[in-house]
Amino acid sequence: MQFSLNGFLLSISFALDCIERDILGVKLNHGKRVAYNALLIGQQMGMTQDDLVDMVAFSILHDNGISGCLTEHKLMDRKKVFLFENIKKHCTIGEKNIEDYPLLKKERNIILYHHERLDGSGYFHMKGDAIPLKAQILGLADYVDTHFKVNMMYGDYEERVIDHIKKLRNVKFSEKICDSFFKVIEPVYYRLDQEDANIEAALDKRAPYKFLDLDYFQIHEITAVFSRIIDTKSKFTWRHSKGLSEKAGIMAEFYDYSAEETVKLRIAADLHDIGKLLISNDILEAERRLTAEEFAKIQCHTYYTRKALNKISGFEDITQWAANHHEKLNGKGYPYCKTAKELDFNSRLLGCLDIYQALTEDRPYRAGMEHSHVVHIMRDMADGGFVDRTIVDDITQVFG
Ligand SMILES: [Fe+2]
Ligand SMILES: [Fe+2]
Ligand SMILES: [Fe+2]
Ligand SMILES: [Fe+2]
Repeated sequence: MQFSLNGFLLSISFALDCIERDILGVKLNHGKRVAYNALLIGQQMGMTQDDLVDMVAFSILHDNGISGCLTEHKLMDRKKVFLFENIKKHCTIGEKNIEDYPLLKKERNIILYHHERLDGSGYFHMKGDAIPLKAQILGLADYVDTHFKVNMMYGDYEERVIDHIKKLRNVKFSEKICDSFFKVIEPVYYRLDQEDANIEAALDKRAPYKFLDLDYFQIHEITAVFSRIIDTKSKFTWRHSKGLSEKAGIMAEFYDYSAEETVKLRIAADLHDIGKLLISNDILEAERRLTAEEFAKIQCHTYYTRKALNKISGFEDITQWAANHHEKLNGKGYPYCKTAKELDFNSRLLGCLDIYQALTEDRPYRAGMEHSHVVHIMRDMADGGFVDRTIVDDITQVFG
């Protein structure tokens, strides 16, 4: 099928951007604005279409490693804005996370070196041309967005930014990249495009789209990358999506699914909790009973999973299976209170497997449970009309 890599990335980028909002508290759309700036600079410098496609991909993904730093840093530190941009590890984790992402030019170390500076003052002390060009462009685009707030109200915005960056020209950023950026920043649309209400459409319009002929097996290689990003957000879920995806594969074999249906189910499992990127770790890792308000926030995550996957062509079934995993047969699930007749077999299966997987994992308030204990709980849920009895029996048999 014809699959647009950037289309896919842009669809899920609002969830990726929310990792930063969670940490920095205010900044929304950081990844998109960095992509917008890097794209325009790349165009100004005469990059090829394929290079621009990769430039956008690197930009959207550039801070994906931040979620992996969350587990080690207490959230009380958050007040120190940019704290996480200031952790070298977000570059190494970010680079590692995307090693299987299918970039067109197969370039490496762009994310690893996105905080390198011309004068060697970056995390890895790379200097000058030793820093890959895309990493240099990304570095400037990231710097501008973290240091200045684009706002139509500030009449002297360009002047202030240009004055500031001019002082860094040939010190932190190359002359060529700075001069290209100064041209990019001139038109009025530059600021308008980057306002929160406009950035998504602006990027969508300007970004080059590359359609690749991929089958679901190749797409699964991409979604596995995102399952890792989702899982690394919390130490309690470090292998939740991966584990679910493996179990989905085992059950598909048990039911004798075709290879294609199996892999589609695994893609749904990879991405089922992508909406959790929008939920604060304060809540996800709370060691106490959640308040009603906090629980209501958790319940939003499958709504956002649907939002992230909805527009991706070829993902119609996958979106349903992924986003229905907290719906219950008796209508007591969320977010749509769907009932049995609205939940197909794979939605039911993924819902059951998600419960099984979650109960076997440690949580802040309890240790992971043994198979027999999990099965006992799930049978009770089947008795209450929440989940499918037959599927619970099959899971009991397969994983027992
Ligand atoms: Fe960064
Ligand atoms: Fe950044
Ligand atoms: Fe979930
Ligand atoms: Fe889950």
